[in-house]
This record gives sequence, structure tokens and C-alpha cells, in this order.
Amino acid sequence: MADNSKIRIALTKGRLEKNTVALFERAGFDVSELKSKGRRLILDIPGSGIDVVLAKAADVITYVEHGVCDMGVVGKDTIEEHQGSYFEVCDLGFGACRFALAGKKGEDFYAGVGIKTVATKYPNVTRRFFEGKGMDVDIVKIEGSVELAPLLGLSHGIVDIVETGTTLKENGLEVYEDVLPISARIIVNPVSMKLKKAAIERLVEKAEKHKGEID
Ligand code: PRP
Repeated sequence: MADNSKIRIALTKGRLEKNTVALFERAGFDVSELKSKGRRLILDIPGSGIDVVLAKAADVITYVEHGVCDMGVVGKDTIEEHQGSYFEVCDLGFGACRFALAGKKGEDFYAGVGIKTVATKYPNVTRRFFEGKGMDVDIVKIEGSVELAPLLGLSHGIVDIVETGTTLKENGLEVYEDVLPISARIIVNPVSMKLKKAAIERLVEKAEKHKGEID
């Protein structure tokens, strides 16, 4: 377990980190260390009893599941792909985007009888989406720039994150169907939830109160 006298929260590095730091600032915390962190990965919010850990999205979940971090801020995309044993306690609203099925503009993904191939960084999300339709597909795992797969003829479609839609548009692709909305969530380790209930609830209340102020 993490240090019992403190709350340790893992933040997803990058854009969600910036939004979460802005949220902490709105909630009245001293975010000076977080703003001038250099290359440090564990930071203090002075006077708050909160330590902040900066990690990659999937690792935020790993640290929370193992109880070495009490809480985490992570996108619903990562939660859906790496389901596990933790509580999801708050939708922070920011980091909003969606999973969508997309492919070459003007093509009908569902046309024809053969099994379709779908490229994605999110094979579990993709599998569940097509299982829900009772449709058998071949899923190919791609590590990034998934949009390349239909353009190169590897797949009939992709399941990927769409935010502004610019990447699809600039590559001659379009959304065929929305799969799932995404935004940043707070997750909590179940044991921490018992042992540090009051402190965790106070922090979640502050987040709920100020989340609407973050864009
Ligand atoms: C994400 C996603 C799309 C793009 C969507 O990629 O995989 O490629 O952003 O954003 P848009 O709709 O605003 O254009 P990311 O930037 O994470 O890079 P990656 O695909 O290489 O992981």
C-alpha cells in the first residue's frame, strides 16, 4: 500500500496532466512543483497531503490496481481497453473525444460477405464492439497512426480515437459509426477507498466542484 498518511495520485502524462494540474490549481492547491517539475516523476503538492505520480496511461491503471497509488486520472479509452479491479468514481469531462469505426471515405464497411479486417490500437474495445453486433472480424493490432492501415490496404476499417476529425479528413477517411464516448476519469484502488475514504472523498468532491472550469 501507499504511505497511509498521504494520498498518492497517478496522473496520465501529457494533455490530461495539464488539465488535471489546472483543476488542482482551481481547487486551491499549490501546483508550483507540478508546473516546474523538470524531469521529476513524483511530486508534492505542499500542504495538501497529496503526492502526484506522472505515468503513461496504461501504467496509471497498473499502479492503482497494485495499490501503490491510491487514485489515478486516466482516459476512458485506457479504462475500456485495460479493464481491471478499481473503482471509477468521477467523470472529469475534459479530454473529451470518442472511439469510432472509420475507413476510406465513401466505402461501405458492412458491404459484402467476407470477414472484415479492422486495425486498432485497442483490440479489446474493438472485439467487444463487434461482439455486441454478433459480427466476426479479424483484428490487427497497430501501435500508432492506425489511419495508415486502410490506406495501405491492410484493413477494411479502423477503430480509433477521433477528437477533431482532422486526422481522418486529411487522409481521405471518414467516421462510419461512433463506438463510445471518452473523457478523463478518476479511478480509485478499492483498499485505499476503505482506508483513506474521507481524504479521497474530499479530493473527489473538489474535483466535481471545479471540473466544469477546465476546458
Ligand atoms: C490520436 C488518434 C488519431 C488522432 C485523432 O492519435 O489515434 O490518430 O489522435 O485526433 P483528431 O481527430 O483530432 O485528428 P495520437 O495523436 O495519439 O497519435 P498515434 O495515433 O500515433 O498514437
